[in-house]
Amino acid sequence: MERFTLITGASSGMGALCAKHFSGSHRLIMASENLEMLQDVLKECDHPENHILWHCNFATERENIVQSLTDLLKQHDAVVDQYVHFAGLTKLLPLKTFSIPNIDLIFNVNFFSILEIMKALLKKSNAKALSNVVLISALVSERGNVGNSIYAASKGAMNSLVYTLARELAPKIRINALLPGAIETPMSKNLDADYIAEMTKDTPLGWGQPQDVINYVEFLLSDKAKWITGQTLFVDGGRSTK
Ligand SMILES: NC(=O)c1ccc[n+]([C@@H]2O[C@H](COP(=O)([O-])OP(=O)(O)OC[C@H]3O[C@@H](n4cnc5c(N)ncnc54)[C@H](OP(=O)(O)O)[C@@H]3O)[C@@H](O)[C@H]2O)c1
Repeated sequence: MERFTLITGASSGMGALCAKHFSGSHRLIMASENLEMLQDVLKECDHPENHILWHCNFATERENIVQSLTDLLKQHDAVVDQYVHFAGLTKLLPLKTFSIPNIDLIFNVNFFSILEIMKALLKKSNAKALSNVVLISALVSERGNVGNSIYAASKGAMNSLVYTLARELAPKIRINALLPGAIETPMSKNLDADYIAEMTKDTPLGWGQPQDVINYVEFLLSDKAKWITGQTLFVDGGRSTK
């Protein structure tokens, strides 16, 4: 059986860069809901023939995630030994304007999809292979920010998962989360101008680049981090000092 690194959110921003970065050294399962964008990223990867695309909408297909991933692994005679979760969705709105469908959408993509993916990866057929999980959380899960309550809560739930699963899954599987601050990607470019200005003012080292996060992912996936688990780590250009 071939071993793969699963990267969700691989169609855009940090996840796309991560896929390209690892494509020469890892076999990848690249996941997203937008097949066309995934195919474009695959074209820019090294050895495109080595990688598998997983087309799945985590917002609307939550109940199908376990089956869909299990079928994909079976079809390709594949196991996942490393899992990096970049898939994420934000809406910058005051709490009173959120409807239940909005809340479900954000929680499905940012949190519940992780539970379903982990359930698939912990099945007997894959569990022996899985050794490392990195989840991409956000600084706002630990520091307040007006208009970001549902997104922040979904990432806070992710952090709690890291603390508990680190104990539940040790010593075989390490799990950590990165909490980025302001990183230049399509997601942050769509935020409102005042919010962008505030983030700029609050970040001593200025805006981060996707590669700043990928470098940290690479470290956590490596043996250099073999004694690190259950951590929620800021990568934020100093913004968390406020
Ligand atoms: N950029 C920042 O400043 C920042 C700061 C802190 C944390 N983060 C976190 O970092 C991660 C990556 O963000 P980014 O800035 O690179 O954002 P991005 O460019 O918007 O990428 C988000 C990714 O999530 C995927 N996704 C969204 N909805 C999905 C769904 N329903 N089903 C499956 N996949 C879905 C997207 O796939 P599709 O294209 O298929 O929709 C895309 O690949 C996110 O979890 C974000 O919360 C970002």
